[in-house]
Amino acid sequence: MFHADSSAAIIEDGEVKFAIAEERLNRIKHYAGFPSLAVQACLDFMGAKITDVHHVAIGQDTDANLAKKLQYTLANPSGILNFVHLRRRKQAMRNVRILLANALGVDHKAMRFREHRVEHHIAHIASAYYCSPWEKAAGFSYDGSGDFVSTMMARCEGTRIDVLNRIFLPQSLGSFYTMICEFIGYNQYGDEGKVMGLAPYGKDTYYEHLRQIVGLNNGSFRLDIDYFKPLGSNQGMQVLPDGTVRLARHFSDKMVKDFGEPRQPRTEITRREMDLACAMQQRFEEVFFHLLNQLHKRVPVDLLAMAGGCALNSVANGKLFDRTPFRHTWIQPAAGDEGLAIGAALYTYHTILDQPHRHAMKHSYFGPEFSDSRIERALKENNLRYRKLERTPLLESVANQLAAGAVVGWFQGRMEWGPRALGNRSILAHPGLASMKDVLNARVKHREWFRPFAPSILAERQHEYFEHDHPSPFMLHVYKIRPEKREQLCAVNHVDGTGRLQSVASQENPLYYDLIRSFKQETGIPVLLNTSFNENEPIVCTPQEAIDCFKRTHMDALAIGPFLVFRSEN
Ligand SMILES: [Fe+2]
Repeated sequence: MFHADSSAAIIEDGEVKFAIAEERLNRIKHYAGFPSLAVQACLDFMGAKITDVHHVAIGQDTDANLAKKLQYTLANPSGILNFVHLRRRKQAMRNVRILLANALGVDHKAMRFREHRVEHHIAHIASAYYCSPWEKAAGFSYDGSGDFVSTMMARCEGTRIDVLNRIFLPQSLGSFYTMICEFIGYNQYGDEGKVMGLAPYGKDTYYEHLRQIVGLNNGSFRLDIDYFKPLGSNQGMQVLPDGTVRLARHFSDKMVKDFGEPRQPRTEITRREMDLACAMQQRFEEVFFHLLNQLHKRVPVDLLAMAGGCALNSVANGKLFDRTPFRHTWIQPAAGDEGLAIGAALYTYHTILDQPHRHAMKHSYFGPEFSDSRIERALKENNLRYRKLERTPLLESVANQLAAGAVVGWFQGRMEWGPRALGNRSILAHPGLASMKDVLNARVKHREWFRPFAPSILAERQHEYFEHDHPSPFMLHVYKIRPEKREQLCAVNHVDGTGRLQSVASQENPLYYDLIRSFKQETGIPVLLNTSFNENEPIVCTPQEAIDCFKRTHMDALAIGPFLVFRSEN
């Protein structure tokens, strides 16, 4: 709450039942206020009231690492005002009972829950380890910052998470990445993922220079802070009164002195931006692997449980099997800060309440779903012509459309938890048509030319198409596509011959799996192009939002529950 990607999750007897980011409900991207609608949605799903809830856990502990915060502030007196402002703001939002009572319209005296605060990065690691099927793992979390820490390493065993190391601000690999992204004109919260796609277009011209900015340091790393603005309010992120998030400027004048004027957003991307993106990604990976190798020395197992915003760097994730001793990853699908809701709840359950019974998270479909009658009502209210189909004819019709080059909105079942659309709120297309990327960008998605689209592949066929067979169920790994398959997958093959794949197993999403299989029967390709169902907005949640997006853009068809809508008939 009061942090970008505010969210809520509800667990019962250690099992995640429902989880959602507030942005999906109030439609404000990366919303950073109080997650009122998300809390209400959790309760509605359970058929419960807030008075039924026994424990409320928050993935933020303003008292954690206080000594380090003070130490930094005293050494950097210019930051004292910010520090005081930050503490005051945080004090104001401490009373969760009042906040919940106001959000839900209940008397705060009627609530009987116990309240728990879990340090930011412990919650991140908990969101990965407790959801993994493992009894022992190395835990790793890294991001811009949370509770004054940017990186945490832990030994996870049974129900315990033992913190081995914290890297404190201003040292932050996430801030380094954000700083360069801002400098090259990507200055919105969450833009880092876009720049990752730009990196392979560049050369390593600035590699030596960036190596000076982030040095390796005996199992850790060290930023040259002359290139960074001193820490500001909320550690580089401003939350505006309407709950939207704005990044404070991260780079200092020294960046301008060394590299020239920063690129203004929406201006032409030059060689310099590509080369900076390339060197940044390269240096980021090196430091990441250095940290992981250090972690492995202290926790010598080959299982890695990971979260934190930087864990969304799927390019780095895809390489770690070759560059570190880790052989298996379990990365929380909501690796960014919305995932803290699940992590804080599971940490409370297992560690604070000492409950041993674990539930592995096998999919990410923890959001709302809508009945056929509700969907049909929305179609009627929008005066759309549609047909209702049984499962097999629906799959065959959609596969047939996709094979013929159509762009299809695919809205099914429960919405995904986390930033990726994984086949329930997706826009789908043929992955082997050379023009498809341009078609999607011109008609539907309007994204930057350099951003790749992602492939969803039948899990058992992954090794035939990709050079790695470690599964990527949550689209969190980028692997090389085998050279002989790149033409067949040309619409999802990035400039460096890679793809950020989703491996789809039948037991995780049977309907989506069978759709890909139907497409394979038509085309011989066990892969679909999968991009999120949205257009410059949070991913659609409700049938009405899907219909609005379908009408606004130029999709050819919409498969929404058992109903199929064709643009040509409307
Ligand atoms: Fe975080």
